[in-house]
Amino acid sequence: MTTATVEAVKLTDRINRIEPSATMAVVAEADKLRQQGIDVVDFGAGEPHFATPAHIKEAAIAAIQGNFTKYTAVAGTAELRDAIVHRHAVDFDSDYRREEAIASTGGKNALFNAIQVLVDHGDEVILPVPYWVSFKDIVRYAGGNCVLLQSDESQGFRLTARMIERLVTPRTKLIILNSPSNPSGAVMTPDDMTEVVRMAHERGIWVMSDECYVYLNYTDKRFSTGSLREFRERMVIVGSLSKTYAMTGWRLGYALAPATVVSAMQKLQSQSTSNPTSIVQKAAVTALTGPQECIAEMRGEYIKLRDHVVNGLRAIPGIQCTMPQGAFYAYPNVSAFFGRGGIRSASDLAGRLLRDAHVATVPGEGFGTTDHIRISYATSMKELDRGLERMRKFLGAL
Ligand SMILES: Cc1ncc(COP(=O)(O)O)c(C=O)c1O
Repeated sequence: MTTATVEAVKLTDRINRIEPSATMAVVAEADKLRQQGIDVVDFGAGEPHFATPAHIKEAAIAAIQGNFTKYTAVAGTAELRDAIVHRHAVDFDSDYRREEAIASTGGKNALFNAIQVLVDHGDEVILPVPYWVSFKDIVRYAGGNCVLLQSDESQGFRLTARMIERLVTPRTKLIILNSPSNPSGAVMTPDDMTEVVRMAHERGIWVMSDECYVYLNYTDKRFSTGSLREFRERMVIVGSLSKTYAMTGWRLGYALAPATVVSAMQKLQSQSTSNPTSIVQKAAVTALTGPQECIAEMRGEYIKLRDHVVNGLRAIPGIQCTMPQGAFYAYPNVSAFFGRGGIRSASDLAGRLLRDAHVATVPGEGFGTTDHIRISYATSMKELDRGLERMRKFLGAL
């Protein structure tokens, strides 16, 4: 297309309100370097390095062989919706019904649909910072306004009901929680989470709890807001098989919410993606109802990797790093390097780390903070060591 024809395309306001995902941009730039034959250590990608467990893969193969390859009900098969509800009830003491569960094409699709059905033009959504990149853009796409809330880095990015309450206005529609958090790895205590949900309930505000990393909680208090049954009236839980069972490419997520919300999400889904892939639904039933040991095994590995990367980062003079309590990200503060070697921001630093040291990280700006970079430690010990060594050398020479 010529420049003239590109300019002639009048895109909608809603598409112009959002930006491409910052994490995807890093992945693309790192790929470009790799294509030039450069050996890049990848701390950018937000996905498990483990393979999907064999029994789950076998269920998908059996589904293909058994010709389970047609459309299913839009919200997923009854078998899958029941499996989602059952798993959540067993693990988190929730009590949802099939009509309150919907399977979607990844957790992101479930989040997108839930926000589209809950947030209207001019509604305010309280979004704790640092936030996962897509929350802000999904809210904006729906016409909502994000009201950002800085969490307390000195207390491991803590978030309390009192902090949130100060931002509530008559326009507040929704509070988004994400514990364990991408990108900080922070985990809200069950007490803090309960207080937020209680406060929201008393004020008639919705809570969306993104629990995509709920099984990757390294404290001894794994917790879902789903256990707070008395507050479920205005609560949406979003979950995903992506991280829990190392299934990012399969695209299977879900939401648990009041039946009216689920049915509105189903309506939207019926006019967009329709059902999640039939074969993946069969694999998901096996993941949710089959042996769960794989989760504990991966969790154990992540804890070792976390300890290793945080120790390595803290050993680099100038880096400060809170101890992440969940997910698979470290979120070090790198502001001590600003003003050195022409680096003025986290974006500058991440750019230089990629181009000069060949280590891919994600700059904090995409997550709403200016002093950090995100490091995904879902990789091997060997890769962690290679990347840490490159960072140590590069930062030491600034
Ligand atoms: C906080 C958070 N929520 C949701 C998602 C979406 O995951 P998926 O769409 O793969 O289920 C991600 C993925 O990185 C995430 O980090």
